[in-house]
Amino acid sequence: MSDKVHPVPEGWAKRAYIDKARYEADYRRSVEDPEGYWGEIGKRVDWIKPFSKVKNTSFAPGNVSIRWYEDGTLNVSANCIDRHLATRGDQTAILWEGDDPADSRAITYRELHEQVCRFANALKARGVKKGDRVTIYLPMIPEAAYAMLACARIGAIHSIVFGGFSPDSLAGRIEGCESRCLITADEGLRGGRKVPLKANADAAIEKAGGVDTVFVVTRTGADVPMVEGRDVRYEDAIAAASPECEPEEMNAEDPLFILYTSGSTGKPKGVLHTTGGYLVFASFTHQLIFDYHDGDVYWCTADVGWVTGHSYIVYGPLANGATTLMFEGVPNYPSTSRFWEVVDKHKVNIFYTAPTAIRALMGGGEGPVKKTSRESLRLLGSVGEPINPEAWEWYYRVVGDSRCPIVDTWWQTETGGILITPLPGATDLKPGSATKPFFGIRPELVDAEGKPLEGAAEGNLVIADSWPGQMRTVYGDHKRFEETYFSTYPNKYFTGDGCRRDADGYYWITGRVDDVINVSGHRMGTAEVESSLVAHEKVSEAAVVGYPHDVKGQGIYAYVTLMAGVEGTEDLKKELVAWVRKDIGPIASPDLIQFAPGLPKTRSGKIMRRILRKIAEDEFAALGDTSTLADPGVVDDLIEHRQNRR
Ligand code: PRX
Repeated sequence: MSDKVHPVPEGWAKRAYIDKARYEADYRRSVEDPEGYWGEIGKRVDWIKPFSKVKNTSFAPGNVSIRWYEDGTLNVSANCIDRHLATRGDQTAILWEGDDPADSRAITYRELHEQVCRFANALKARGVKKGDRVTIYLPMIPEAAYAMLACARIGAIHSIVFGGFSPDSLAGRIEGCESRCLITADEGLRGGRKVPLKANADAAIEKAGGVDTVFVVTRTGADVPMVEGRDVRYEDAIAAASPECEPEEMNAEDPLFILYTSGSTGKPKGVLHTTGGYLVFASFTHQLIFDYHDGDVYWCTADVGWVTGHSYIVYGPLANGATTLMFEGVPNYPSTSRFWEVVDKHKVNIFYTAPTAIRALMGGGEGPVKKTSRESLRLLGSVGEPINPEAWEWYYRVVGDSRCPIVDTWWQTETGGILITPLPGATDLKPGSATKPFFGIRPELVDAEGKPLEGAAEGNLVIADSWPGQMRTVYGDHKRFEETYFSTYPNKYFTGDGCRRDADGYYWITGRVDDVINVSGHRMGTAEVESSLVAHEKVSEAAVVGYPHDVKGQGIYAYVTLMAGVEGTEDLKKELVAWVRKDIGPIASPDLIQFAPGLPKTRSGKIMRRILRKIAEDEFAALGDTSTLADPGVVDDLIEHRQNRR
């Protein structure tokens, strides 16, 4: 923790939408009169039929129901495109920067309209209609945004799967929502390396079944096999389709997208977001938190495979008529100056990235940053995991030349948009703190029993009332939704995060308190990695925990018990890492594997993860009570062979 305070820079309070006084007044009103407040804010999007009801939400056990603007109708794609055509048809909507620095493109709102309409018609021509699920497995190319908006235009529900996921992970997500249509590319391109997307997609479809249409975008031009009757060349389909497509009239509560995310237990959940409230919340938060003004160039470095890409590359910015930069590559290709070179090339004003990227670049020193100008930058943002004060200060001083405020934005796939964050013209910054709640958000801290904690305190973070961007259900499993988020602390939404509140009412997220780990800002369920490991024929049992990692935030530490007679060699470790990579994807690769003859279990057979976490953190002096273990001896062996020695 740092006690340094960076006050709102001079000039910012005047130019920003929100200053201190306005924040205080509007925040009070937003929580005292949510109906009135969100009723007004709801008008920022174009409705086909205006809503007359604003909020109809209940967190009550057994009866969780979340509805916003429920009698209004609208279309998200019309809001992100059509309504800008008259005033900014020739303005750049998407500024695309390819993996290769020689490769970039500007797509105007008018071009975006044509591309999205054509693709919407191509989807229709293959029988895709309102309510159908469409899985998108694409690299960071403009077609990813076209695909999302084309689905939204015809009322199909998209489910994007990050291009780094394996065929098996993709298959699970196709099956989970019974998609009949998949959109992919021949290959992806990242850091100069090719990713075999079409081959992965073919393998996934073989496993999942049920897919009758695959659109294949040409990215690298690789010769990929096409299945007769099922596979369609994207370029051919677009050329044959009409450039006009009427947007479908959608109810505010009709689904917009599903996005799978990891939890404590079981398979990834399909988080469902709907149309009206989500769009209002994504666009409103984008405008105020990034203080987006007309003409600004805004860059969020996330991938559209994650929620940050949904809300803050595509839907929020485009609904606001912004110029949003979409980057196909990685921070260290062709060199570690890449981010800053892109900033200079496109005169980026607002830059939003993850702490893991900052920490990785910090390792290379100031040189690669300082050789670029970055004078266009005005505001910096951080998301995905707690940012340590050292990384915050480096980002502030080296990247922003001590002139750009940093918005450390806390939120989740489930929340649809940012909930706790500074507003650059209103909030004095404390490095490492996500600071204060956004309008309408009522964070609370509770102890393990659910007792509310007042004032300066540390506990579990819950949100006391709904906001328009909140997820509505787990796709196809409302019971799981209620159990996961509303049963731990009745009548509150449980975030799964631990948090501290200081005497100034600032929030400091301390990390997950459940069995979810955050690796380089990517969410991973320890149970998923465990089930992958035990599927290997030489593994009898596995327990996975997170441990502090200098660059990734958390690393994956796996304790593995082998089948009788199998020897735990270095080669076997490599084999297991490769196994998990192939099974789930590179982001799930264990960083450290410890072969353990036994795991610490209670007499009833429950693995005591608390002990495993401590040993992985190299903090075994503070193991606490081990007297309830069935065999306390296993702990000594685990300590002796621990893999993370500091
Ligand atoms: O633990 C919190 C962490 O990321 C989790 C949500 O992950 P995901 O659903 O993948 O969404 C990431 C992008 C919104 C949270 O439960 N997290 C996210 N942002 C922050 C954060 N932790 C601390 N500070 C943040 N700014």
